[in-house]
Amino acid sequence: MEALESILTRRSTRRMKPEIPDKKLIEKVIAAGRAAPSGSNSQKTRLIVITRKKELDQLAELVQREFAEMEITDDMYVSLKSSITRAKEGNYVFHYNAPVLIVTANKKDYGNAMADSACVLENMMIAANALDLGSCWINQLHWLTDHAIVRDCMKQLGMEDDEFVTGGLILGYGADGMPERGTRKPTGNPVSWVE
Ligand SMILES: Cc1cc2nc3c(=O)[nH]c(=O)nc-3n(C[C@H](O)[C@H](O)[C@H](O)COP(=O)(O)O)c2cc1C
Repeated sequence: MEALESILTRRSTRRMKPEIPDKKLIEKVIAAGRAAPSGSNSQKTRLIVITRKKELDQLAELVQREFAEMEITDDMYVSLKSSITRAKEGNYVFHYNAPVLIVTANKKDYGNAMADSACVLENMMIAANALDLGSCWINQLHWLTDHAIVRDCMKQLGMEDDEFVTGGLILGYGADGMPERGTRKPTGNPVSWVE
């Protein structure tokens, strides 16, 4: 698929088949992420690729527990409130039981940490679409990155002490195939031309 087509037709996929895609395909997605631009070419985004069910289940339980204990406040944005509400109802699986979860982390003291990681994540989503794989940005571990129990768990999975979770991505074959790939007219992201 041509690059521009892959960008314009990318959509989030949340319902995935349980099978893990061929490792070579996952590696292609990761290679696209690692090729992303970064401030001063610092390349500080760490990618933690989790396919083992035991750890995926552990993380889901952890997130369910932490969110269920949180109080909803007025200043929270809608999707965070919705995650907490669903966790309080029980059986909240933040990664939708996808077969692959790629967590990104970056240095706590690095000003471009979030921007660099977003470039990595977007590159991976575009590559996934080009390879007929579904993907969706998954943010709950970022929201919980300061929770000690989450930090401990992520450190066991490879995050360094001086890093924090910047985001995440699920990957897999869409349960219903690929989402509708027609191009969509954006209603936001306003543009001002000065010419
Ligand atoms: C920073 C960011 C955080 C997001 N967090 C989540 C998330 O935690 N869970 C989820 O299901 N989707 C998440 N999304 C996906 C958005 O909901 C989705 O991109 C948006 O609704 C537009 O739909 P599209 O990706 O199909 O174009 C996130 C997207 C971004 C860019």
